[in-house]
Amino acid sequence: MLKILGLPASNSDQSINAMLVRHAVRVMQLHLNAKAEFSVLDLNDFEMPIYKPEREKAEGIPLEAREFVRQIGFADALIISFAEHNGSVSAAFKNIFDWASRIEPKVYHGRPLVMMATSPGARGGASVLEISSMAAPFFEGKVFGTFSLPNFNETFDREREDILDADKAKELASLLKRFALALNEGHVEGD
Ligand SMILES: Cc1cc2nc3c(=O)[nH]c(=O)nc-3n(C[C@H](O)[C@H](O)[C@H](O)COP(=O)(O)O)c2cc1C
Repeated sequence: MLKILGLPASNSDQSINAMLVRHAVRVMQLHLNAKAEFSVLDLNDFEMPIYKPEREKAEGIPLEAREFVRQIGFADALIISFAEHNGSVSAAFKNIFDWASRIEPKVYHGRPLVMMATSPGARGGASVLEISSMAAPFFEGKVFGTFSLPNFNETFDREREDILDADKAKELASLLKRFALALNEGHVEGD
């Protein structure tokens, strides 16, 4: 059975990227129903001290980082949505990623990825999405597709966790349908 992992790259308890991930996971569930298992990570479960070489030397790598690496390795495919903080990834995600890379430099384990971003602004996290998708191959991430949702407060229904903007809803639905199909047919595989 396929294992699909949702990963909101935000530690906010009200994360709009977590809402987008949950929406995307539900869409994937409709396509794959009994053929896949789904779970969504919470970055708060992997909170660690800021990475520091001397800390690593003195105390080793925290167990949370090991668990994060294990969870990614366990998944067959990932659906990530990045919070954009000052044009880049959130410090919460970067710290976990840095610690994880000390265990396994191929942080994404060769897994196929759908990378998304949303923000209340007009660019919809375009910068973090570009940076993260360009960098993914260096960490053995196979980017299947990207999706950005601008103006979150107007384009997303928080109650129903659904996209209100018709064009954007169609764009994501099409991407996820192709992703589900490819995973189902084994056209995209992790190592
Ligand atoms: C420190 C900080 C920096 C931010 N920088 C950006 C930015 O560069 N671009 C942007 O579109 N939104 C920016 N925002 C607004 C975030 O997009 C907004 O807080 C969003 O809710 C973050 O996603 P999350 O809810 O999933 O954590 C910033 C927010 C914070 C707190």
